[in-house]
Amino acid sequence: MPLNNVAIYPGSFDPITNGHVDLVKRTLRVFDKVIIAIATNPGKDSSLFSLDERLEMVREVFKAHDGRVQADSFQGLLVNYAEGKRATVIIRGLRAVSDFEYEFQMAMMNHRLKPKLETFFMMTGESEFYISSRLVKEVVGLGGNVSGLVPENVLKKLEQKFKREDNPHDQTCRKNPKD
Ligand code: PNS
Repeated sequence: MPLNNVAIYPGSFDPITNGHVDLVKRTLRVFDKVIIAIATNPGKDSSLFSLDERLEMVREVFKAHDGRVQADSFQGLLVNYAEGKRATVIIRGLRAVSDFEYEFQMAMMNHRLKPKLETFFMMTGESEFYISSRLVKEVVGLGGNVSGLVPENVLKKLEQKFKREDNPHDQTCRKNPKD
């Protein structure tokens, strides 16, 4: 029995992709429960999908997982959220070398803030290593096909979102290099 059977998987999930889904499924081989924790930053949020939409998409994707995957949101420091959930492990995915610097800095900072909190990195699956929420949005926004890269329910939501001609989001200029 592991010392801590709950892992927190934090991120923007705007939207959840098949890369995220693969990572959650593999995490469930090691942990009893995964909490997908969507970070929110009221006032500064430039997400395409609202928090409710993102939570709903995640819940739909994992509805068959018997409660082992929970979708939640948090504001403020991740380490405080993790502590509140009595979790000591944060899961993050690594796709390419370019992810490493950003992830390493975050893991070190989180560790400094709460030394008992560990970050576990998982390599993204070989069929998913090039998928990112940012690229998915950009491709759909420019009329490309992302089927197979995101869950079916997410694909539908993306298509609906970009059908609106008055979409105020320019997804080509996010500051965060990852998503
Ligand atoms: O999917 P993302 O955008 O790469 O996820 C980044 C996220 C949400 C994990 C990170 O920005 C975060 O932890 N935000 C919460 C605020 C916080 O704790 N910041 C300090 C991180 S060292």
